[in-house]
Amino acid sequence: MEYFTTTSKASRRAADCIIVGIYERNKLGGGAADVDTASKGHLTALMKSGDLSSAPGRCTILTAVPGVRAKRVAVVGLGKKGELDGTVFKKAVAAAIHALEGSKTRQILNTLTLESVKGCDVYYLARHSVEAMGDALYLFTEMKSGRKKKPIPLSKYGHAVADRGNAARASRGAEHGDGIAKGVRLAKDLGNLPANVCTPSYLARVARKLAAGNGKLTTQVLSEAEMKRLGMGSLLSVTAGTAEPAKLIVMKYKGAGNEKPVVLVGKGVTFDTGGISLKPGPAMDEMKYDMCGAASVLGTIAAVASMKLPINVNVVVPAVENMPSSKATKPGDIVKSMSGQTIEVLNTDAEGRLILCDALTYSRRFKPAAIIDVATLTGACVIALGAHRTAIMSNSDALREEIFAAGDAAEDRGWPMPLGEEYAAQLKSNFADMANIGGPGGGAVTAGCFLGKFTDGMTWAHLDIAGTAWKSGAKKGGTGRPVPMLSQVLLARCGALP
Ligand code: BES
Ligand code: MN
Ligand code: ZN
Repeated sequence: MEYFTTTSKASRRAADCIIVGIYERNKLGGGAADVDTASKGHLTALMKSGDLSSAPGRCTILTAVPGVRAKRVAVVGLGKKGELDGTVFKKAVAAAIHALEGSKTRQILNTLTLESVKGCDVYYLARHSVEAMGDALYLFTEMKSGRKKKPIPLSKYGHAVADRGNAARASRGAEHGDGIAKGVRLAKDLGNLPANVCTPSYLARVARKLAAGNGKLTTQVLSEAEMKRLGMGSLLSVTAGTAEPAKLIVMKYKGAGNEKPVVLVGKGVTFDTGGISLKPGPAMDEMKYDMCGAASVLGTIAAVASMKLPINVNVVVPAVENMPSSKATKPGDIVKSMSGQTIEVLNTDAEGRLILCDALTYSRRFKPAAIIDVATLTGACVIALGAHRTAIMSNSDALREEIFAAGDAAEDRGWPMPLGEEYAAQLKSNFADMANIGGPGGGAVTAGCFLGKFTDGMTWAHLDIAGTAWKSGAKKGGTGRPVPMLSQVLLARCGALP
């Protein structure tokens, strides 16, 4: 995709489509006033006759607008003037792209970047614009045969800006948006792939491919034998029931010499049947998404590499399949983690924490500046926060607040949840150092507390993305979250934000 910025009038631009906006009470937004003037009141007339909707998420495509050089004008609803925020802005851009589906639109000029939007300067507007465009263009047709639905053949995407100073910020925003969108796309693809394709070995191949030909990226894949030598008894107990070999995938992006890295650990359960504590049938197919933590950290390192950020980032992905069989771990089995702590596996369906704890212990060798694990860890988190916000838990108030603020800025929001001894007490075991489940109350938090027993001395945060990583129902599909949130943390840390 080619990006550009322009200070020229919307009506003068020869594009396949220009995006303009209207607010409630017939107020014009973006390049709409210019289009209205050039067309001698065409938009005003249509608004008065009720043919243009100002509701967020609505779009009307106009063709052959008099006095306007562009082939199409996409008029999107922006809601109440003065209340336009980043969320509505993204929704509006996506609505325009969706409305163009099926058309031969190759170049688009988005003039909504001229608007004043709560909490977003032109850098964030251009970035959100590119990310929203990427989301709206996304299709997962890899597994379909025959004639497939195709996205519009967009190859040139521009943003209108008021002056040259804004142009530089908008270009930077588009460039970062492009990198983040690439990471989001990778995360969605990996999530959407079925578990008979996206196995631990497949994830390892994807990681190797990402690093191939990039001088700043390296990938190392540890086998089960190597994990055994490291003493990862907890991780290996999860893979005991499957024929599919487990992998520990380690990626390093070196953009800042010998600085301490930020380490991202992603849960990579390529399918979670629950094991011997078998899950119920309905919607079990969605447990192919149980590797979305892994997908998001791989997506984030891909985004960082694409943006060439001056930072060091390591990714650690414990990748396993959780299956029942005669060799599978049984409720009551006791396993020894790499940290030396023993764990009574009271429920084989609480497997995410069993692989993450060994990945966290392994990550100590990197002396992380901060370590963040990302996991579709608990159904309890979905009950607590639904599909809107990622749960953020941390042993550092500063890191938790940093991630929270990053989520807001990136339009990929989280919400703080507690940790603490009063919750951790639920993990007491009569027979081992701890149990892997903590009873019915506060399940997302006790899972966090379990991980906290392996992060002493590290600045650590845990993101539970069980509600945010994918959508169920008619629009079933990966969301790519929290790639934007994590990318924002890294962009801010390395000073790459304008
Ligand atoms: N992968 C699941 C969590 C999950 C469930 C995410 C549904 C999204 C939707 C995880 O491995 C799991 O099964 N957790 C158990 C833990 C329990 C046994 C303590 C859960 O949440 O039921
Ligand atoms: Mn499970
Ligand atoms: Zn799971």
